[in-house]
Amino acid sequence: SPSEPFRNEPAPDFTKESERVAYPEALAEVRRQLGRTYPLYINGQEVTTEDLLPSLNPADPGEVVGSVCQASTREIDEAIAAANEALPAWRDLAPEDRAQYIFRAADIARKNIHTLSAWQILEVGKQWNQAHGDVAEAIDFMEYYARDMIRLGRPRRTGKAPGELTHYFYQSKGIAAVIGPWNFPLAISCGMSAASLVTGNCVLYKPAGLSSVVGHTLCQIFRDAGLPPGVFNFVPGRGSVIGDYLVDHPDIALVAFTGSLDVGLRIIERAARLQPGQEHVKKVIAEMGGKNAIIVDDDADLDEAVADIIYSAFGYQGQKCSACSRVIVLDSIYDKFMHRLTKAAQSLPIGPAEDPGNFMGPVVDKGQQDKVNAAVALAEEEGNVVLKRDDHPDTGSYAPLTIVENITPEHRLAQEEIFGPVLAVMRVKDFDQALQWANSTPYALTGAVFSRSPQHLDRARTEFRVGNLYLNRGSTGSMVERHPFGGFKLSGVGSKTGGPDYLLQFMDPRTATENT
Ligand code: NAD
Ligand code: ALA
Repeated sequence: SPSEPFRNEPAPDFTKESERVAYPEALAEVRRQLGRTYPLYINGQEVTTEDLLPSLNPADPGEVVGSVCQASTREIDEAIAAANEALPAWRDLAPEDRAQYIFRAADIARKNIHTLSAWQILEVGKQWNQAHGDVAEAIDFMEYYARDMIRLGRPRRTGKAPGELTHYFYQSKGIAAVIGPWNFPLAISCGMSAASLVTGNCVLYKPAGLSSVVGHTLCQIFRDAGLPPGVFNFVPGRGSVIGDYLVDHPDIALVAFTGSLDVGLRIIERAARLQPGQEHVKKVIAEMGGKNAIIVDDDADLDEAVADIIYSAFGYQGQKCSACSRVIVLDSIYDKFMHRLTKAAQSLPIGPAEDPGNFMGPVVDKGQQDKVNAAVALAEEEGNVVLKRDDHPDTGSYAPLTIVENITPEHRLAQEEIFGPVLAVMRVKDFDQALQWANSTPYALTGAVFSRSPQHLDRARTEFRVGNLYLNRGSTGSMVERHPFGGFKLSGVGSKTGGPDYLLQFMDPRTATENT
């Protein structure tokens, strides 16, 4: 209930039979709905277009998950007009009232957690637990931001001067463009949208093409929550057709983006230009990539380190901004660690995400498969490939799980985000060099250290400069409120999601002072 303090949605408990049967049932239900066509949603109305984008199952690209109508610039204009119309009432609605819509949306997602997860298993190849985690995070974002807006919405007095009464309060920026990635297809889009909405902005939401059916599930959640027409608009479309147009639009006040470095920088640059008729400076929140390292100290607990590194590097095929793509190992423990790591990686079952026996599945599509294969070819040039798992099914966009050693900071493999199951191993002489190499990329998103030395852990706290540092645990799986998430350097601009400063970015603070 909204009156209770925030609590994270629990992880699925697969020891319970009810949880185990829920997934096959949800998958069967979703399978019955495959191949449908999904409209846009503008001003409370479904809108169809001629341009359809098919979305395919990565484990079986012959299976069309759904076809999604694509917006042209005309539909963007219509959605902006609707958002402009809805804005005054939505902006001035009491924060608690806006929060109630978001709590309702969270309830809807919670009731449908298995079907929402099943869509992700089939559309982007998430394993059961990964898909469940994504939907749970979406719910957490809504529960957390709704409570946080109630906190921020309380009138606050500033100053103590006699004869003067000053109130400090917030107003929304206006119309937000929410542009999401495919890899956390519900959670990230839902978090950016819920934050925009609860702070009083109207939204134009553009999902990534590869996850636009899941994007439609988010639209359905907000529709069912009963948001007034024009407040939330679903405008899937091709980045090349509507991306620049949306960002450049003079009525867009805020862009909340999560995705690659190249697109993020492009948005930042374009949003900085004042367009004819524009009366504000656009705010851009851009969460981008990572090249995350895990340090294995010479006294690390290898049972913990190996299991957590495997999960961080190869969980969801390494397609997480938080994924471990470099492991930095101290010389004296190197051979022992590598033996265990490669044996463990060799034993992972690989196959479709739909089968919960598989640890790893296909990457999201042919394009991503080509990118990962190019990185594997580079690994063969730059280092010594110690494991390359080609033993995967033939059907589906599989990329080989790869471990490559002899990588040093000069190599491209130590600098460029791959976004796939490729792990670079770097051997260092001592902990000083480990910290130096860990920091030697332009990204600063996540990082982890496995060590039993309190001094080394303390040094890492200050000297391992990343947004999210984890000590004696893996680098992925941040939880809303417990681990506010986000980085700096080229990993992004903007305050951490699921943390106490996030909503402030979506509003302008105002004061009103009365001489009493
Ligand atoms: P992407 O940059 O290719 O696409 C992201 C979104 O931008 C998509 O919706 C896409 O259609 C849209 N887009 C493309 N061109 C555009 C343009 N010119 N203007 C406006 N929008 C445009 O990223 P992706 O492949 O979907 O996601 C993977 C990337 O996201 C990785 O780099 C990953 O590290 C990053 N990511 C970061 C975080 C984080 O919190 N830091 C979280 C998840 C993913
Ligand atoms: N928040 C996600 C994680 O920590 C990206 O893995």
